[in-house]
Amino acid sequence: MYFNRRSQRKMLQFSTGALLLLLPWFGGLVLGEISHDFSQCLDFFYDQTPPKGINAAVYQPICQRYKNQYHFASLYHRQHRTPLYSAYVLSPANGKRPNSTWMYEPQLAFSRANTEMKPFPSSGLVDQNVIESQALVGDYRNSNFTKGHLNPSMHQKTRENREATFTLTNIVPQRAGSNSGPWNGLENEVLRKFKAFCNGSMYVITGVMPYESEPRQINNRVSVPEYMWSAYCCPAYRSNLPESVRNFFPTYAAVGRNDRNSGEEIVPVNVKARASVRGYDVRRMSVETLEGILTQRLAMSISLFHGQCQ
Ligand SMILES: *[C@@H]1O[C@H](CO)[C@@H](O)[C@H](O)[C@H]1NC(C)=O
Ligand SMILES: *[C@@H]1O[C@H](CO)[C@@H](O)[C@H](O)[C@H]1NC(C)=O
Ligand SMILES: *[C@@H]1O[C@H](CO)[C@@H](O)[C@H](O)[C@H]1NC(C)=O
Repeated sequence: MYFNRRSQRKMLQFSTGALLLLLPWFGGLVLGEISHDFSQCLDFFYDQTPPKGINAAVYQPICQRYKNQYHFASLYHRQHRTPLYSAYVLSPANGKRPNSTWMYEPQLAFSRANTEMKPFPSSGLVDQNVIESQALVGDYRNSNFTKGHLNPSMHQKTRENREATFTLTNIVPQRAGSNSGPWNGLENEVLRKFKAFCNGSMYVITGVMPYESEPRQINNRVSVPEYMWSAYCCPAYRSNLPESVRNFFPTYAAVGRNDRNSGEEIVPVNVKARASVRGYDVRRMSVETLEGILTQRLAMSISLFHGQCQ
């Protein structure tokens, strides 16, 4: 969908009014005149169609813009100060992991702000609107959680693509045992599958599931997910797929534990895994199974890929 300027402005006026009524409920967050959909970055979704069924006012679409270019898309949850998911087209890195210069999203904090992500100022002095509207590097300090990428920099090609993944709107609090353990294994596996069998674009959506009953936070501000999830759609794949990988195309999904004390109804624990990663297992599954779990856990009927990526 492409909008013309006049209808866009009308829509914005209307929703700014609606949002003002909701302000007390948003806890006094400053709401900018920001994009209401992914219309500027639909290319990062299969068939230019974002996931269906996610329809709550708390979610803010962000077209992730850096150095004058869009790099991927994220759906941001304002109260959680984390993304629900990031969506991207996988393209293997052709260089090393860049130095991590962490960035924030001005458009979450200021009306009419530039839509490009920006590095946190080295002075450490951050505007109050930024503090209220999103996570800060300091929220993660001494939290016992790592900064977990949803769109990992190794799934992105150019240096600019990779640097753009270091915006905190692409980051969630993730246990080290998951981030550098089984979840990292999944990211590598998806990369290998892409290189070996995908004959075209691979569309990936990676997100989180919050705790069901008692929300958990770091620094009393940033929501900690109980599970990570990921799904891909590779509509054009090699015609001569070996038997062993036939179930992995055109789609594939997984859920990873981010809490070793969670129950085992969604992802069982391998008690024989080495201690540092024990309890952070990743379970492979069909996209259909993942959608069933998401629908239940998020109480929304979710469809990730248009037409099941067929
Ligand atoms: C990263 O930082 C180090 C030390 O500051 C510097 O030597 C190196 O060139 C930087 N690498 C990149 C890719 O910017
Ligand atoms: C982090 O872990 C250490 C060691 O288990 C603990 O003492 C500390 O309270 C934890 N910090 C937070 C913020 O939970
Ligand atoms: C991959 O796609 C190209 C065209 O884009 C085609 O020529 C080739 O046969 C395909 N390879 C396989 C293994 O299916």
